[in-house]
Parts: sequence; C-alpha cells; structure tokens
Amino acid sequence: CNFLVEKDRKCICETLCNGLSRLEYRGYDSAGIGIDGDKPGEIVLFKEVGKVAGLRKRIADSTINTSKTFVSQCSIAHTRWATHGVPSVVNCHPLRSEPSNEFIVVHNGIVTNSAELRLVLQKRGYKFESETDTEAVAILMKYIYDTQPSKQANFTDLVKAVLKELEGSFAFVFKSVHYPNEIVTARRGSPLLIGVKTEKKLKVDFVDVEFAGEASEAKPDLLVPPSPAGLLAAPTSSSHIMRSQSRAFMSEDGLPQPIEFFIASDASAIVEHTKRVLYLEDDDIAHIAAGELHIHRLRRNGEGTQTPSQAAATRNIETLEIEMAEIMKGKFDHFMQKEIYEQPESVVNTMRGRVNFDKHQITLGGLRAYLPIIRRGRRIVFIACGTSYHSCIATRAIFEELTEIPVSVELASDFLDRKTPIFRDDVCVFLSQSGETADTILSLRYCLERGALCVGVVNTVGSTISRETHCGVHINAGPEIGVASTKAYTSQYIALLMMAIQLSEDRISLTERRQQIIDGLHALPGQIKQVLEEDKALQQLATSVLANSRSLLILGRGLQYATCLEGALKIKEISYMHSEGILAGELKHGPLALIDENMPVIIIMTRDSLYPKVKSALAQITARKAQPIIICCEGDADFPKDAKTIRVPSTVDCLQGLLNIIPLQLLSYHLAIKNGFDVDFPRNLAKSVTTE
Ligand code: G6P
Repeated sequence: CNFLVEKDRKCICETLCNGLSRLEYRGYDSAGIGIDGDKPGEIVLFKEVGKVAGLRKRIADSTINTSKTFVSQCSIAHTRWATHGVPSVVNCHPLRSEPSNEFIVVHNGIVTNSAELRLVLQKRGYKFESETDTEAVAILMKYIYDTQPSKQANFTDLVKAVLKELEGSFAFVFKSVHYPNEIVTARRGSPLLIGVKTEKKLKVDFVDVEFAGEASEAKPDLLVPPSPAGLLAAPTSSSHIMRSQSRAFMSEDGLPQPIEFFIASDASAIVEHTKRVLYLEDDDIAHIAAGELHIHRLRRNGEGTQTPSQAAATRNIETLEIEMAEIMKGKFDHFMQKEIYEQPESVVNTMRGRVNFDKHQITLGGLRAYLPIIRRGRRIVFIACGTSYHSCIATRAIFEELTEIPVSVELASDFLDRKTPIFRDDVCVFLSQSGETADTILSLRYCLERGALCVGVVNTVGSTISRETHCGVHINAGPEIGVASTKAYTSQYIALLMMAIQLSEDRISLTERRQQIIDGLHALPGQIKQVLEEDKALQQLATSVLANSRSLLILGRGLQYATCLEGALKIKEISYMHSEGILAGELKHGPLALIDENMPVIIIMTRDSLYPKVKSALAQITARKAQPIIICCEGDADFPKDAKTIRVPSTVDCLQGLLNIIPLQLLSYHLAIKNGFDVDFPRNLAKSVTTE
C-alpha cells in the first residue's frame, strides 16, 4: 500500500512480483496479483500456474497500461502451495467473489469448515469457480456485504464478521472495490508482518491495539442476515487509536506524510523496502487506510486464552536484522548449495557470544533465568517436524548423558494425535527453523495450556514459536531459503548441545567431558571446511555411482542414526529417490532382505563406542554382496584403499554427526542436479508448512 507516494503500475507489479519471488520457497505452484484497474472501483487480476517468472511474463504480455500512475493504492499478491484444489489458474490466489472481483483475498493456511460454508452459500445462489477453501471466504464476504441493509459497514467490521464464521488457520489479505485504497489483513495460526516505510523517522515505535468496541457486536449468522447493529457498530475506542496513529505516522509538522506499508508472511519479502516491521498476533486484524494503520482484536479482551504477546496493548515496530545479501544467492547456483557452504560461518554464528572457549563455559542468555526450573523438571520433551526433529534425535543421547534428565523426542503431528499426557513439571522444547510450522505451534499451545515450561529453539526471530514460548534460544543461522534444510540442522544441533552443556554446568564430575566437547566445537568450523573441500569427489560419486539408482539405504547406529535419517530425508526431498535411514541394530529384523549386489548402501562408520557393532553390520551386508560406500574417519586404516569411502575428519563422538551429514547434503544436491531437478523448489514441498 502506498499513500501520497506516486507509483506507476509497472513499479507496483514489480514490487509485488519481487516480493513473491522472495517467498517462492514457501510455495510455487502458481502465483497471482490483484491490482487497481483503469476505471475507478475496478480490480484486475493476473494469475499464472507455476513460478513467479510465469506471472511476470503474463503481466508483460498483457495490454494493461503499465505507465498509469497512482498516488495512493493498495494491491495484493500470492504464491501458492496447493492444499485444496490442483495447481491451476482458477485455483490460484487472489480468489474473488465471482464475477466482478468485488472482494478479493489471498490466504495462507486452511479453512477447515469451507465445505459447509460453500454449501450454505451455494444454497443462497452464490456461484463458485474454484476448488479452493479460500474462495468461500471471498464469497462469504460478499454475502455479508450484500445482506447488510444499508451497506455502510466499514471494511474492518466486515472482515471481523467473516472471520467469526471461519474455522482453521489463516493469514488473509483482503481488498475490495467497495473500499478503494484500503487493505485489511488478519491472522490466526499463520504468520503475518507489516513493514512500514516513511521518509521521516516515526515518532513512536508502536501501534495501539484496539481491544474495546466488540462487546456491541452481534455475531452475524449465515442463516439470519446480520443486523445493522452488528456490522455498523462503531468501535468505542477508535478516537484514541486515531490519536496514537497520528503520532506514529504523521510528520513533525503535523501533516500526513508519504508512507508505504508492506504486508508479508515473511520478512525476506519486504526487507529490500524497509527494515521497520511489526508482527501481528493471532486474532489481530490490521486495517490500512489513508496512510494509517489500525490494529483491532477479533476476540473481546479476556475472552479465551491469550499469550502475553497477544494480550499486549501495543504492537511494537521492530528493526529487522537481516541483510539483503543474506537472502540472495550470491556466487552460488542454488540457495541450498549456498546454505551448505555457509555452514562453517553459520555454526560460528550459533556459538557467537555464547561459548567461552578459554574458560570452557557456555551461556545462553535466553535460558539463564529458567535453568533451575529446567533442572527440576521431571523430563524433557523435544517436539518438532522434519529436519528439526532429526536434530532432536541427534542430540538426545548427549542431552541425557549431561543432564541426567530423561528426554523423549516427539514428532509434533503424532504428539498431537496421541493427546500425549503433559504435566506442569515437564519441560517441552520446540525446535523449528521457521518458528511457524503449524503442527509444532499447535503442540506448543497444547503444552502451554497444560502448564509445562515451554522452550523455543528457532531460527526466525519474531516468529510465532519464538514469541509464544516462555524462553529459548535463537540459533542465528541466518535466513534459510532452500526448502531442504541444511545449515539450520547443524545450528539446531549445536544449540541443543550448548543447552545440554549449560544445564550440566553444576555437575563437577562432567567437567572433563564438557571441556572435550567445547574444544571439539572450537575446531568444528575448520573441519566443516575440510569436508566441503571433498565436494568434487562427492559430485563424481553422485553422478557416476548413484544417479541411476532407484533407492539408497543409509545405515548407522547410536549417535549416527539421526545422520542416517537426515541424509535419507535430503535425498528424498530433492532428488526424489527413495531413501531410508536404517538403524544398523535393526538390520536383521527386516531391512537385510533388501540387500543384494544392486542395492546401493551408505554405511556410517566413523569411530565411536559402537564401531565394533557397525563393523558386524558391514560384514552382514557385504556377505550379501552389497558394495557399500563407507563414511569413515580420514586415515582410518581399517578400510582398504580400494573401498569406496567418504573420509571426514574425526571429532568428539557427539559432534561427529555435524561432520558426517555434510557429505550427505552434498550428495543429495548433486543427485538432484544430475537428474535435472529444481533443488530449491522440490515438487510438492514447501519450506514452511503452516497447515496441519
Ligand atoms: C518442512 C520443510 C523441512 C523442515 C520442516 C520443519 O517440511 O520442508 O525442511 O524441516 O518443515 O520445519 P521447521 O521450520 O519447523 O523447522
């Protein structure tokens, strides 16, 4: 949205498409924009299946007048990851109230009662053109608008009335021909932030939240047209809000100043325009009009459970710390490749200011005040999805060894499915790169309700998990764009390790062990660099030995089991090859049946206390004619020179997984490239899964 800032249509479309390109890693099966048309009150939609490049072309090929200028305008755009309905132009966002684009909406998340809404609306004669859940929202808005007697509802109240009918999770942005130069955006369960760009400094760094004014609202019922009192009730505290807004967004001479607002689900989409952002909370509704931003709460104050950040009376305008360079590919061909190569630095960033290598001490500021409670906890429950889950598996043993507290590791979806018992003296740790994964957020809220101490370990500052947990650690790996997680894994691993070390600092008997690990951490960045130097050899292995295989087994045990799981996940995710991480101890209980001379196997045989046992697994598979590729320590004379080996430096047992995973990341990358797959946009996957 821009107010008193002249923009031509070309610039508006470019701004939208550039923002979408930065968000493509979250979904890329179709992209669309909704902008103002030539005639007053007209909205034009452009949509295209596939990546944003296709949408750009579609706009460029159209006859729309790109030089038309707007002094004030609001537009919306979306890149989709399909949940309801196949990727197609008609299912692409923005969805509209058919046929005249009266109300258009973009949506992240899932509206779980959309089928019921669709039925009710169809019965009332409304036509649907897409298979999406989102279309029901646009049409519901039109229905509510149509049925209010004097058509005077303001845009915010209309959105409130719509949201009250919806179940599920969402982040919405709405635009309408009835409210030119206005935008309403709202969230429940999916992330949203608003960037503010002004030439002059903002006078205050917050926006007031309007809690009052809802008591008088009647809930519009689909079966009964809403009463005028419902939709037309003026918010009681709006004058107060206006004053505060004026302070925030007016220049010192008291005149309205040129201002732009950028709404996005992720900061990377807007950082090129502004670093001043405010994060919306669940049930916040933000209304932007005439250069002002107003935030309203959907629920009445005090109703239901609200986290402290939701209940706060203001939303602070914060300064983003990410730099443009961090979200650009630089000299690399793909984000994933860049992120693999960043690991020598990203692990340092995770440790920066926290590890004192001379004194062998670790201090995680975000946890310090909570250490006594965590130590008193009767168990620690790690909860996560995907790669984040694997970082929990990787560190569980060292966590238990150092803290002597039982640790269980849960996949968030299964944790919820089982309605796992959680108690006040449990410590629940939520691992998430994005901090926005729906299953992990729902697990967090489940544990908060049961009174457990909730700790977040996240990469994205300002994300839902980082805001809603009691305390936590930011892993500081920098923005991760590649859908297949790489540097976040190694940083999460280190963050959990640091947490375990800090928790055990009162145990004198473990001093030596802690020192050994901290010394190992010191050497780690250099050792990661050493592994990365093997890239050419790994490329050769991927292209000449593995590229044509249909399946690949990765075998290991103990501390390396997580490496097997994570390596197999990388291979599945981006090279679409079936791959399985197998616990070597389970080999005899089934997987051995898969082994023959044609089955490619990678076996992890770096040295630790379980080495003799892995050696017998190696014997078992070679006896079945397998020709395994062995990941082992450099200089290990146990393996003949002609054996297929991937050699990595040796480190402390509990850190070895940080080195062993790197060749598997690189192998998966080269396998995907060799087979012509789009590494950063693997089919059917999204970086941030904000739906259950
Ligand atoms: C998706 C991504 C994975 C990621 C998982 C958990 O599946 O594709 O790379 O590991 O979500 O995401 P989180 O942001 O919670 O770590």
